[in-house]
Amino acid sequence: VLEIATTRDELRAILGAEAAGYVPTMGALHQGHISLIERAVRENARTVVSLFVNPKQFGDPADLVRYPRDRERDFAAISASGATVIFSPRELEIYPPGFETTIEVTSLSRRWEGAARPGHFRGVATVVTLLLSLVRPARAYFGEKDFQQLRVIQRLHADLGLPGSIVPCPTVRDSDGLALSSRNARLSALARRQAVAIPRALFTMRDLADSGEREIAPLIAAGSQEVAKRDLLTLDYLTVVDPSTLEPIPTVVPGARALIAVSVEGLRLIDNLALLEPLPAHLSG
Ligand code: PAF
Repeated sequence: VLEIATTRDELRAILGAEAAGYVPTMGALHQGHISLIERAVRENARTVVSLFVNPKQFGDPADLVRYPRDRERDFAAISASGATVIFSPRELEIYPPGFETTIEVTSLSRRWEGAARPGHFRGVATVVTLLLSLVRPARAYFGEKDFQQLRVIQRLHADLGLPGSIVPCPTVRDSDGLALSSRNARLSALARRQAVAIPRALFTMRDLADSGEREIAPLIAAGSQEVAKRDLLTLDYLTVVDPSTLEPIPTVVPGARALIAVSVEGLRLIDNLALLEPLPAHLSG
């Protein structure tokens, strides 16, 4: 049976002291979310999925209004994927009158998406801290697609000593390589075809690294060229960073992460890829 909570009290009454798997979402579920939920269902006796479009992480109020909402469809998809608890609170349940606490993960939020969307990661960090404290899951699942978000969440989870563990999950891609995102559906057919240059840029860079190239500049030149070939795409950034600090690095090292952001038809698409697999723990350090 599917249990649905809309208040904190209902959620606590359903969950009791029992630890669960947890997948926080803003709804508009696609196969990427479903893969997180299915993994949580496999690894936990029960799985909670939350649907909450968090106003604090939207800079532009018009973007918040435009954000796709389809509760019926989301509820059906969650139920079909085997999760048994849905937490679908109203805004006032999460942010009651007088709410004024903010969580900020400073350095990790500064660059890349943080620079393009001021206040975005403050909103994400605040709501994720609240949701993790409410649900108290044994394991919470987040996609690597939003790599900077994942790093911000791992940092706050460690810094605040929140319970359970954060489980990073691989990006789910369409058959042509484009990372799944609820924004993809808003692209015209031509822009959707051109968007394949985004994963191509990343995989071209990984191929170069695999064939021995260790300098960053030729990698970025090759990746940028893929995007430049498509007239509807504008490259916002393409960079290679240390996966723990997200600071740019001069040469490719194991675990190095390529990050990309592209503007297309007024939307921002982001993606990322590990260029060299990180060394196994017993060989590193
Ligand atoms: O990735 C998302 O969908 C959101 O940023 C999250 C983690 C649910 C917080 O609102």
